[in-house]
Amino acid sequence: MQFPPLQNDTFLRALMRQPTDYTPVWLMRQAGRYLPEYCATRAKAGSFMGLATNVDFATEVTLQPLERYALDAAILFSDILTVPDAMGLGLSFAAGEGPRFATPVRDEAAVAALAVPDMGRLQYVFDAVTSIRRALNGRVPLIGFSGSPWTLACYMVEGGGSDDYRLVKSMMYRRPDLMHRILAINADAVAAYLNAQIEAGAQAVMIFDSWGGVLADGAFQHFSLAYTRRVLAQLKKEHEGVRIPRIVFTKGGGLWLEQIAASDTEAVGVDWTVNLGEARARVGDHVAIQGNLDPNVLFADPDQIRGEVARTLESFGVPTNEDGSCAGHVFNLGHGISQYTPPESVSVLVDAVHEYSRRMRAQHR
Ligand code: CP3
Repeated sequence: MQFPPLQNDTFLRALMRQPTDYTPVWLMRQAGRYLPEYCATRAKAGSFMGLATNVDFATEVTLQPLERYALDAAILFSDILTVPDAMGLGLSFAAGEGPRFATPVRDEAAVAALAVPDMGRLQYVFDAVTSIRRALNGRVPLIGFSGSPWTLACYMVEGGGSDDYRLVKSMMYRRPDLMHRILAINADAVAAYLNAQIEAGAQAVMIFDSWGGVLADGAFQHFSLAYTRRVLAQLKKEHEGVRIPRIVFTKGGGLWLEQIAASDTEAVGVDWTVNLGEARARVGDHVAIQGNLDPNVLFADPDQIRGEVARTLESFGVPTNEDGSCAGHVFNLGHGISQYTPPESVSVLVDAVHEYSRRMRAQHR
């Protein structure tokens, strides 16, 4: 597939720990309900899945935040739950209620019936990737994504969001054999799904382990990280001669940073509980770090937002090391942006990241 050449590769360079003129920034859930234009397109589409399954709508909403802000990457507009939906679990999003599965996976029979879905059922996602990549016209790179096997299993067993993860953890402790079977199928499905996104035009891929951090030490390594590694081991590292960097984001995974960084990934996403300078000292010589502003900072005043951005950038420091080598930092939030965020706050944030990080590099010379 032929696409126009990339004009801004700052994000990919930071992921590969190469020098950049400034710190690149994008935001998890950057296309979403805090943008009035997103809500307008969603109303036209009728539902979240109506939006995600229509290539033109998905392309339109992916590009909306890039029209407003000088973001350094685009992320495919879709959801992590498309994969279990393709497994036949019947996904729906009731307005204001979050995701629901019509047939959750709760017993031995349901687990036995589970299989890696035919990727043809997710063709709408791959078509959206190609359409978005064309529409981007080389402006910034396009990120593809998936949920981690564990995070998908949480939704598949619980049947939706959860406060206590009681059902999924009950299965994990009582019937680890069933849990391992779900996770193995999820891992192989996620790997096929991400590879198809890469073939369709994704230039980096991110694995969201949003609920890895709810696991006990030991359980995390066994039920989450092992299966994220199983995904990573199957991913194409290159497409048409170009490297495809991977980002693994475990919300609440700060304590396990070394272990996550030791899986075969180019970058690790961290939430706001992590000090970036310490994270860099622990793992920054072999992976890039993405994060980690608290999304609630965006409810503060512009000067306070600028102050928090500066603090975050200073905690990482300039990426160049004493010995001439380079660390990598991609600025992001520590979790998805809130739907109540004032859109003007995002302008302040993005511009502050660019301006302050340029100044830090200039002062360092
Ligand atoms: O980042 C982007 O702009 C790309 C799109 C994207 C969405 N979901 C769109 C979306 C991405 C990367 C996701 C990932 C996702 N989805 C995760 C992992 C990241 C995280 O937040 O931890 C998870 C856990 C989900 C599952 C999911 N999807 C939930 C829990 C919800 C409801 C959340 C809510 O705020 O109500 C969704 C719906 C969803 N996915 C929305 C968007 C923009 C809002 C739905 C709407 O428009 O009605």
